[in-house]
Amino acid sequence: KRVGVLFGGMSSEREVSLRTGAAVSKALRGLGYDVAEIDVGKDLPARLAAEKVEVAFIALHGRYGEDGCVQGLLECMFIPYTGSGVMASSLGMDKVFAKQVFIAHGIPTPPYRAFHSGDEARAAVDSLPFGLPVVVKPSREGSSVGVHICKTRDEYLAAVEDASKLAGSILVEQYIKGREVQGGVLDNEALGVIEVVAAREFYDYEAKYKSGGTTQYLFPAPLPPDQYERVNQVCLAAHRALECSGGSRSDVILTPSGEVFLLEINTLPGMTESSLLPKIAAGRGIDFPGLCERLLQGATL
Ligand code: DAL
Ligand code: MG
Repeated sequence: KRVGVLFGGMSSEREVSLRTGAAVSKALRGLGYDVAEIDVGKDLPARLAAEKVEVAFIALHGRYGEDGCVQGLLECMFIPYTGSGVMASSLGMDKVFAKQVFIAHGIPTPPYRAFHSGDEARAAVDSLPFGLPVVVKPSREGSSVGVHICKTRDEYLAAVEDASKLAGSILVEQYIKGREVQGGVLDNEALGVIEVVAAREFYDYEAKYKSGGTTQYLFPAPLPPDQYERVNQVCLAAHRALECSGGSRSDVILTPSGEVFLLEINTLPGMTESSLLPKIAAGRGIDFPGLCERLLQGATL
């Protein structure tokens, strides 16, 4: 079957997707698959037809590729694709909607307020139901684009200004101090938990992709067994709550007292050879090409 690896795209995470796409294409070719590499743009439908793509491996992140848009296009063209469907992708891309579903399922997540405009968020500066510090996030970005931890009023106002330029609503969360851990799920099975120790204030865009070597990854995360299992279960519950398919990676904060807070789910986690889901899968004996093949085999309409 001719596999179209869809990468690049038009989101703020284009650069990350170029890396995911290159790694996935290389792995699938190495396994003998007939791969068409498709840098996604407005001509995507014509490219899919011209390349005679029979199954799509979505290696996109962010808007259009991770949010259900490309998934919907592929549905209409009857081309099976990897990962989550339209609804799970849309919900997963919007941190506020996803949070509402998580709360409905009893999954612990930090207290929050959501605002539809910068003006609304600014007006609330002195009346948030929790005090500073807070984390301000644009609801529909990935890779920590536009995310700020705010310790002062001025930092809050500047962060709101930044977030209001990006898509979606503005999410303001109570800042929960703790260890940053992430859990991987594949085909409705929890794969394990990795801990990220960033040399920066948190695991931001810089720490994710630019500060080569200064971020430490600990797999399996060195946690007491009950906490490790709790993180695994929260990540699996998040995957199930949104009815995700294929792989997902959820970001979690673990407090010193052992409380677990789900920050978000990523329905199209980074898939470079050094990304976290591949690291977690490797720890379970699934190498990078093996992970790509599992995801491809799970492709459905
Ligand atoms: N949004 C990035 C790609 C991730 O979650 O890995
Ligand atoms: Mg994300």
